[in-house]
Amino acid sequence: MSGRIPDSFIQDLIARVDIVEVIGSRLELKRAGREFKALSPFTNEKSASFFVSPAKQMFFDFSSGRSGTAISFLMEYERLSFPEAVEELARQAGVEVPRVGSSGPSRAVLEGPLDALAFADRVYRAQLREAPQAVEYLKKRGVSGETAKTFGIGYAPESWDALTRQLPDPRHAIEAGLLIEKDQGGAYDRFRNRIMFPIRDTRGRVIGFGGRTLGNDPAKYLNSPETVLFHKGRNLFGLYEARQAVAHPAYLLVVEGYMDVVALAQAGIPEAVATLGTATTQDHLKLLYRATSRVVFCFDGDRAGRSAAWRALEQALPEVNDGREAAFMFLPEGQDPDSLVQEIGAEAFRQRVDEAVPLTQFLINELSKRSKLSNIDGRARFAAELKPYFERMVGATLRTTLVDAIVPIVRMPRADVEAMLGGRGGGEGSDNNHQDRRMLKGPVLRLLQLVLDRPALASSIQGFGELHSLDEPGLPLLLRVVEYFHDHPEQNAAALTSTWDDPTEAKLLGEIPPPESRIFGSEAAMVSEFNDGFERLRTQARRQRASELLEIARQRELSAGELAELRELTASRAAQSLDRPV
Ligand code: UTP
Ligand code: MN
Repeated sequence: MSGRIPDSFIQDLIARVDIVEVIGSRLELKRAGREFKALSPFTNEKSASFFVSPAKQMFFDFSSGRSGTAISFLMEYERLSFPEAVEELARQAGVEVPRVGSSGPSRAVLEGPLDALAFADRVYRAQLREAPQAVEYLKKRGVSGETAKTFGIGYAPESWDALTRQLPDPRHAIEAGLLIEKDQGGAYDRFRNRIMFPIRDTRGRVIGFGGRTLGNDPAKYLNSPETVLFHKGRNLFGLYEARQAVAHPAYLLVVEGYMDVVALAQAGIPEAVATLGTATTQDHLKLLYRATSRVVFCFDGDRAGRSAAWRALEQALPEVNDGREAAFMFLPEGQDPDSLVQEIGAEAFRQRVDEAVPLTQFLINELSKRSKLSNIDGRARFAAELKPYFERMVGATLRTTLVDAIVPIVRMPRADVEAMLGGRGGGEGSDNNHQDRRMLKGPVLRLLQLVLDRPALASSIQGFGELHSLDEPGLPLLLRVVEYFHDHPEQNAAALTSTWDDPTEAKLLGEIPPPESRIFGSEAAMVSEFNDGFERLRTQARRQRASELLEIARQRELSAGELAELRELTASRAAQSLDRPV
């Protein structure tokens, strides 16, 4: 039997079977508190260090270092391939494994939103061949048939139900954001009379679309809404296609528009990706640096472009460790990458990419605009403003480069500059894997342990607010895990790690052992420990922001907004210390 096994089926299967039964029918398990234990089947150990957690639906083998779900256990223990392990598990659960992908668009069996997206993708591509005006539009913009094929460009007809009427059951298509549900029941097509750009995840699966209107719709571009599968902050248009074209690109170019990516590829620069109508996030950068060591941001040369570049820089600082580079390229007035590459050609365009402003230079340029460097006070203020950015830089080389560059600007001895910036050019720890493992510790690790063990805890957290700005290792990962369980309260750690899109993180999460049985099943104790932990992080975030503002206040007058913020921060701190006498 061929075809792909739908992800939704795998999730359901993991939720349906009990790992204790799966492993218990193969090994002799003994109860140990909330877990079960056995002698490791993977080593010759004498005392049991193999644990099965019914809550997490995962196993942990401390003697071999293995851990995972029922599926990975079967793969290891019975030496099965992934599909074989799924088949075996399904057999045990008494269900049949569905496959998709081998049947044509007319016989759609949609197992979940991914299948609905794959189906829509085929429909839109087929519709493009039937729509001469859409083909004409692409031709006019210089897009060849071959390029259209590379990106899977399609067309959504000017109709309320071109897609809807082909679906026997609209549920998954609604979930995937393709259709919009009507109040009185039924659904209609979200995308109408638009050139469709499929957005793929790193595995090449279509997870959403962007559509450009061919009419006068005021929304020139329409993107899929945020869904279970599609998060604008975590996906980039064109990344999959770029990696198909160049396995190890020397750089990746971040641009704004779908058509910019397509036009650059058409011109012979397939290394471009686009953010999906949002600012660049740290997750975007993580994705990019997994594929290349140099990221070049391409922005408009105007004020809006500069401030977008500045936001990108802030996201990049914690990601640019040694061996990585970031640079900024600014476009001439009134041009976008699409128009520029058509005007000057690929070679000249690449030349400009090579000449992009390095991150440290851009940082210095922008900050030096804010202070008068001609007097001592201004120079001191410049150095002080640099400090928080310097602190967030993880690369030792980058830090050294920055210090080298500012010594002549501030006209202070190097040692003074270093002392002022608080840190001496980084040091060890820029190796990424290393960092990942060490990154999970303290309260963040504890909170992860708790929520992976009891996903329901996630629902007790009502939004993260100021937490996003807290600079704490592992925190972004924790927040995403909590977010996941918030959205999928019925899932467990096994489902999470088996569908997590970052394999390194999935491995890391899979290796977190369950909390020791100290708090023996007391639900209430776990809830309050979890909430207290989050509250402490919030306090830490407020404190960090307050001292940032105080530091700025030492250098210059605070704006009215900053003053108000500071007052609020210190007020809530005072209120808190009244709450809890120390
Ligand atoms: P632009 O308005 O700069 O368009 O939007 P463009 O890419 O040059 O489009 P063409 O050349 O007229 O086709 C840049 C990006 O901003 C997002 C899209 O991702 C778009 O590609 N955008 C723009 C939206 O999400 N919605 C809009 O209405 C406009
Ligand atoms: Mn354009």
